[in-house]
Amino acid sequence: MKRVLITGAAGFIGSALVPELEKNGYVTYVLDNLSFGKRDLLDIPDDRFVLGDITDRTLVQKEIARISPHWIIHLAAIHFIPYCNQNPYESANINIQGTINVLDAAKKLDCLERVLFASTAAVYPIVDTPIPETFVTNPLDIYGLSKLAGERLMNEFYLETQIPSIICRFFNAFGPRETNAHLIPEIHRQIVEGKRKIQLGNLDPQRDFIHTSDMSLALRLLLEKFETGIDTFNIGSGKEYSVRAVVQAFERAIGESIEIQVDPARVRKVERHHLCADIQKLTEFLDWEPAVSLDRGIQKLIDDPHTAFA
Ligand SMILES: NC(=O)c1ccc[n+]([C@@H]2O[C@H](COP(=O)([O-])OP(=O)(O)OC[C@H]3O[C@@H](n4cnc5c(N)ncnc54)[C@H](O)[C@@H]3O)[C@@H](O)[C@H]2O)c1
Repeated sequence: MKRVLITGAAGFIGSALVPELEKNGYVTYVLDNLSFGKRDLLDIPDDRFVLGDITDRTLVQKEIARISPHWIIHLAAIHFIPYCNQNPYESANINIQGTINVLDAAKKLDCLERVLFASTAAVYPIVDTPIPETFVTNPLDIYGLSKLAGERLMNEFYLETQIPSIICRFFNAFGPRETNAHLIPEIHRQIVEGKRKIQLGNLDPQRDFIHTSDMSLALRLLLEKFETGIDTFNIGSGKEYSVRAVVQAFERAIGESIEIQVDPARVRKVERHHLCADIQKLTEFLDWEPAVSLDRGIQKLIDDPHTAFA
């Protein structure tokens, strides 16, 4: 049975990925400092959960050697863009130094067969059409910059070890158990509080929303199929929705109308109007396509907010 170490798995995406791997026979181990994640999002025993910080080089070396994973999935990061902008040193340190520590410890393993790094669509510049992986990178903020550094570190890691290495550029994930105040959990929170006049920032930007169950399946299939080299894949749905369209999906889910009020404090000064993945490379490589529409995912959040699709 393969041992899979997932850093940062007590967070939003990890809490969907762990059950996807466990139900398919993998034995998952988690390293997380619980700064944003929560222990109770994970249904794994304590001896497979390490409470630790990826910036602690000694701990990372010791725990990765002890676990000796066949796969490493590196999700741990500071990821909420407003927090990164307010705390640039801390974010860059965790996202870059932490990645160096994980990859350095990984280099010493004899059993390692795959490494997957969670990068982001934020490595791309502002582009108004679906973005393929070949598009030039040019991040707008410290978060995107720190993830681009992580991609470069993955390249170095691969050149040195020849261990199959996968860089995934995640677009906007949505689903149950979100840990950061992104658009969908923010609308959901206000609706659950009983509000039907909701406060939002810019209404026109369009984003590619991919459900965490689709994302987790794509990641597992990629890890299973990717056997040589290093490559980069967009992980998105290939469809864009505006903020207004997301609110309309909530209206359909609750069967009531919702009034939007623009809160000037929430309006971002620098804003991308479009961010959509070209997912042709992913869908050609894998027998996979996104199965959960925005409407279905939002209906599920309203009906049963804490659980994933079976
Ligand atoms: N959610 C998205 O839409 C999205 C989009 C693009 C990329 N990503 C990337 O996917 C990964 C997972 O994102 P998420 O949405 O689950 O975020 P999240 O904040 O819910 O999860 C990140 C996890 O990392 C942990 N962590 C943070 N700093 C740590 C440290 N120093 N040491 C150990 N653990 C630490 C947190 O406690 C948390 O459990 C991140 O790398 C993120 O950058 C996410």
